[in-house]
Amino acid sequence: MRTLNAPERLRRVDRSNMLGVLDGYVDAFLSSFRRASHARLAAPAGLANVVVAGMGGSGIGGNLLAGLIQAECPVPISVLKDYTVPGAVGPKTLVLAVSYSGNTEETLAVAKEGVARGATLVGIASGGQLQRLARERGRHLPVPEGFQPRAALPQLFGTLLGAAHALRLTALAPDARLEDELRSFHATVAPTAGDRANPAKKTARALKDRFPVYYGAGLLAPVALRGRCQLNENAKMLARNDELPEANHNELVAWAAVPDPRRYFMSLLRQRDEPPEVGRRFDFVMRTLERRRVPHGTFTAEATSELGRVLQGLLFVDYVSVYAALLRGVDPTPVEVITDLKQALARPARRVASRRS
Ligand code: F6R
Repeated sequence: MRTLNAPERLRRVDRSNMLGVLDGYVDAFLSSFRRASHARLAAPAGLANVVVAGMGGSGIGGNLLAGLIQAECPVPISVLKDYTVPGAVGPKTLVLAVSYSGNTEETLAVAKEGVARGATLVGIASGGQLQRLARERGRHLPVPEGFQPRAALPQLFGTLLGAAHALRLTALAPDARLEDELRSFHATVAPTAGDRANPAKKTARALKDRFPVYYGAGLLAPVALRGRCQLNENAKMLARNDELPEANHNELVAWAAVPDPRRYFMSLLRQRDEPPEVGRRFDFVMRTLERRRVPHGTFTAEATSELGRVLQGLLFVDYVSVYAALLRGVDPTPVEVITDLKQALARPARRVASRRS
């Protein structure tokens, strides 16, 4: 597809209307936050730690939440993306389990084990077994049905942050200024903003035939992860993400010697009020890329609040992934192989016949 400015052509590729879903991003986040922040939730007495469990599109909210609130949260927060539960989980633990379908094995395993160890469970799900477990043994916070899990991030993350607020883990809450800043930013990346003025369309065009890499730091490191996952699932592209300062201690060496630089596109996710030490690292990475002639671009989140900058980053990378999909002629919504995997895992394992030699 050569143009991203012809609505009927976009609709022909975007058959399940991912762009339409993105349209409701800001409202969905704000209303989900509001609803969850008024829920009657209580952390266990003597709260010792918080774990946030979730996979893929449901799991990224945990990374975003931890990045935003860990400095103010009085207890450690860990993000779990596996079946196993750390030894520190017990009766003084709050388990925030997030699964859009409510049926994801790893998340359910953590929620069940948490309950078995006496932890307090808050489950965020649109249905499924997690909804049942949370209603019976904890508290359930609903999200609306009918979306792809990753497309429901504004609902999932809004609900998670609202729950953290209701549980007094954070005082963070969107205000009128954040809403204004988000709405005006949204207009700059939405399909109605033409190719030349739209940073998400420009980035999608630059990376669509390359191997994209996102770098973020601090609060925007989880946004870089989201950007990679969205390119994987929406554009069906291999991609990677990394974060500063860590990548300065390893991957930088590979960029300085990269043999085929034009195969890659590096997108640096930066923000207003970036700590100067982080800024210097980004500048050095950029000079290294320039020296090797690696195609790259910088996105700077300009909102006045940290939450606003994270949400602007999310809008940017989400739109980039959908535009990249459409430019490649790929319908962003279906992820058949994940469905196949879940069906395969749900079947009882076949016994491997043992043969005597
Ligand atoms: C699909 C998607 C996946 C799922 C993941 C976990 O759109 O984003 O990454 O989020 O397979 O499933 P749920 O979200 O149902 O727990």
